[in-house]
Parts: sequence; structure tokens; C-alpha cells
Amino acid sequence: MNLFEDQIPLTKPWLGDEEWLAIREVIQSGWVSQGPKVMEFEELVSKYIGVKFAVATNSCTSAIHLAFRIQGVQSGDDVILADTTCMANVNAIKMAGANPVFVDIDKKTFNLDPHLIEQAITPKTKAILNIDQIGLANDLEEIKKIAQKHNLIVVDDAATAMGGKYNNTYLGSHGLTTTFSFHPRKMITTGEGGMLLTDDQDIADKARTLRSAGASVSDLDRHKAKGVILQKYYENGYNYRMTDIQAAIGIIQMSKIDQMLIERRTQAAYYDAALKDTGELQAPFVPDYATHSYSSYCITISENCNITPEEIINQMAQKNISCRFGIPPLHNEPYFSGSGWTDAQFPVSCNVFKKTFFIPIFPGLTEKNLKYIMDTLHQILYLHNTSSKIFT
Ligand SMILES: Cc1ncc(COP(=O)(O)O)c(C=O)c1O
Repeated sequence: MNLFEDQIPLTKPWLGDEEWLAIREVIQSGWVSQGPKVMEFEELVSKYIGVKFAVATNSCTSAIHLAFRIQGVQSGDDVILADTTCMANVNAIKMAGANPVFVDIDKKTFNLDPHLIEQAITPKTKAILNIDQIGLANDLEEIKKIAQKHNLIVVDDAATAMGGKYNNTYLGSHGLTTTFSFHPRKMITTGEGGMLLTDDQDIADKARTLRSAGASVSDLDRHKAKGVILQKYYENGYNYRMTDIQAAIGIIQMSKIDQMLIERRTQAAYYDAALKDTGELQAPFVPDYATHSYSSYCITISENCNITPEEIINQMAQKNISCRFGIPPLHNEPYFSGSGWTDAQFPVSCNVFKKTFFIPIFPGLTEKNLKYIMDTLHQILYLHNTSSKIFT
């Protein structure tokens, strides 16, 4: 079944025969759970990013949870995060027993606004969960300064931003415990999967233990020792292991990451140029400190234009182009009803949601696709403007 037939999807993982053959090799080896391929994948990522340790997990959510637990975030603590993000971030905070405290976003970057953090800090605040949303680094130095001043832990969630840079070096290499996701909408994929990156050996060692039930010895080491060593349990853990089948895909994906980043950046440059003269639609803003990885391409409808994201998404769908709404303000989810959050506390995230939408971007999108997407968008705007003039 071809799920991508007859339409341009929002995203599509770049997988080929190489990944297929790599999986076959793992299956034939007989070792399919966490083992040598996971180790190899971890080494590849840590070398690429320029960080001492990389610990693979079954998801980014579990990597964030490990980062919190290991650094002492616990029941009753508050964790600050942006209102514009996904539920997985709150889930990880809740898994640590802590409470999410939403803060509004910057109106240009759509990331957590560093200027608003200090007013949200209370004696219960233990950590900041910074999120480099949709491939764009936040201003990490600003976040670090605030954290140091108030003695807070920072976890940098770069789930969507692998290959993105802050001050010219990769996210994950700035001395913060950082996490990646390998879900298919992310920069590289292993189907599902995640990773915790750190320069701190104790954090890495603890993450390796906790991801595997809390066992002091990994299955692979016990196997290599022919069963003569016995694992010990000093604390309870989880099953957050990545399988060697997933890691084998990840190893191949790492050999393609530079090419994938080039493709995404070339596509973004095409869109940027095509949007430049509309006045009605704005390309994503990229601050000087960041190199975008463009896991998504987010367009903002200018204040002077009264077309809605819904109208655009519907009309693009009729032309077989998949688009999506921008990220909804998380405080509005039914889960938080009764928590006391109001739209008035988040003017920027609420307004950004009303004015943004995503268009397709992924390695493999052709020049013909790009032109068709931009031509269709321009045509929708043209028809909208013409009909508004007739009816107003
Ligand atoms: C910013 C961010 N963090 C964390 C996650 C969770 O990643 P995973 O699905 O690998 O747990 C996502 C997933 O969409 C995400 O976008």
C-alpha cells in the first residue's frame, strides 16, 4: 500500500534499500534487542555532534524523563517550558512526578521567550525544559544564564532539531543534557526512538542503567561474559531500550544526515525566495545565532491578510498538498482544564497559532513539487484577494 500516492505529504522519511539490508543483517545475526548496533549508533551520533556520551532510548519522551530523574527533578517540583510545544514534553515532566509551568513564546522565533522565564520562577521551580522547536535553536546562552542565576537544571529538547546549530556548533554540544527524537517526522528516523546526550559520565552511566530495568550489567555484557556475571539492582528502572533493528536503521540514516540537511535547507531557501514578495505570508525567522535544520517549514500569515490557516490548509488539500496547522497552545488542551491557565497569559502563542501553518518539507521533495506548492499557494492568495475585493 502506498500511503503517499496522489498527494504531496507533509513529510516523508528518507528510507531505502540500504536500511532494509541493514535490518536483514541484524535479524540474521540473532541479536535483535539492544546490543552492538545500538552501541555503534550511539558512537556515530556522539562523534557527529561533538558530545562525549550518547545514550539511545526507545523515544525522546523517555530520554527527557531520564534526564529529569537523573538530575533530581521529582515529585512536587515545577518545570518551566514553552506553551507552544507537544504533549510529549508535559508527559515527560509528569513521568518525573513534576508539574509543567507554561511560559509564552518569543513572537519571532516561536521558542520559549527567555525574557519571560524569571517572572515564572518560584521556590518550587527546579528545571527549565528548553525546546528547540521545529528545528530552530533557542538562545541557549540566555537560558543558561537564567538557570545558573537561579540554580536550575536545564534539559535541552532538540527532538526536532538534530543537525541544527547554535553559534555554529551542533545542538547537543553546548554542555546541556540534550535529547533527540527519531520519530519519522524528525531529522533522521529509526521508526521510533530517542537519545540522551551529555558530557557528564555519571549522567550517561545512570541513563544506561535506568533505561534497562535498573540493571548494573547490560544484556550484551552478560552475554559476552557467558553468563558468569550477575547484574545487581540498586534502584528501579524502566524498559527504555532501543532495539538493534532500530539502531541498524539509525546507522544508515547517519550516513545520509548531511545530505538530508542540505536538501531541507535548499528547499527552505526556495520557499523563502518565493514568499519574499507576497507581503501576505512570512517565511520563518532565523536569528543570527541559529542554523535551522528545518524539520518543519512554518509560514506566518501577515496581520494585514485575513485568510485563515484553515482556509489555506483546506484549499491546498484540494490540490493534493498536505499542510498542517501551527502548533496549538498546549495550555488549551482538555487535560489542563481546571488548571487555571488562560489565553490572556499567552498572547503570543495564541496569536501565532491563529496565524501559522506548515507546508511540506522533506528530503526527496522535487523541484517540480516545490514549484507546484508555491504556485498553488500564490493562486489561493490571489483568488482570496480577488474575492475579498468583490465582496467588500
Ligand atoms: C519537541 C518534541 N519533544 C519531544 C517529542 C517526543 O518525541 P518521541 O515521540 O520520540 O517521544 C516530540 C515529538 O513530537 C517533539 O516534537
